[in-house]
Amino acid sequence: MTEDAQAFYGRWARLYDLLARKTPGIVALRQRAADACRLEPGDTVVEMGCGTGANLPFFRSAVGPEGTVIGIDFTAPVLERARELTAQYDNVHVIRGDATAPPVSGPVDAVLATFVVGMLSNPAGAVEDWTKFVGSGGHVVLVNAARSDRWYSPPVNALFHAITVLSTPPTTKLRYETAPTRRLDERIRHAHDALRENADAVAHETHVLGVVRLTGGRIA
Ligand SMILES: C[S@@+](CC[C@H](N)C(=O)[O-])C[C@H]1O[C@@H](n2cnc3c(N)ncnc32)[C@H](O)[C@@H]1O
Repeated sequence: MTEDAQAFYGRWARLYDLLARKTPGIVALRQRAADACRLEPGDTVVEMGCGTGANLPFFRSAVGPEGTVIGIDFTAPVLERARELTAQYDNVHVIRGDATAPPVSGPVDAVLATFVVGMLSNPAGAVEDWTKFVGSGGHVVLVNAARSDRWYSPPVNALFHAITVLSTPPTTKLRYETAPTRRLDERIRHAHDALRENADAVAHETHVLGVVRLTGGRIA
């Protein structure tokens, strides 16, 4: 999965960047995610799996010129795009590394991971590690897409399933032992549960017809 994911995001970096910044509603969602990190000017924030860097400018606005913003991703071509997007800021750093073993040391004020934990083999373990990495009083925020549980969910989930299959590396594979949407739902549930268990204050909201979940926790 790791090599598949890097090859996939590497190949589609430009297209992904377009979707990551121009999909209707995505700007408001990224602003909500940044707000949920509860950042103050001068703070340090790390984004795990930052991709092409679409969240990083929101962080830079929140922490200002005296703060520090760090984006970590293991796919080189997406990081090149993230570097281009943030080249004007000398306090935004983009680093190649594994989000499950971050190449920077904590504690930091906040960690954000948007649309990433569904790609990890042990999402709950990664989130627990991130809660230790930020330390007591810091914030961890997760944003992910999973099947909707609203009353009108069948057509929404059919579309979500098609998008998930097309965007799950390897995209050439037509049959899976476990349906990618089911596997994604489980990983996301485990990750968000792990955040709730390690937080002393939790905020949870859903967006985009119940498909996108945002959970923010202040770490105990
Ligand atoms: C769906 S993209 C999301 C990118 C970005 N967070 C966003 O919201 O646009 C998932 C990203 O996570 C990265 N990724 C997945 N697993 C990772 C890991 N273990 N370490 C670092 N990056 C990882 C991929 O390279 C990819 O850029």
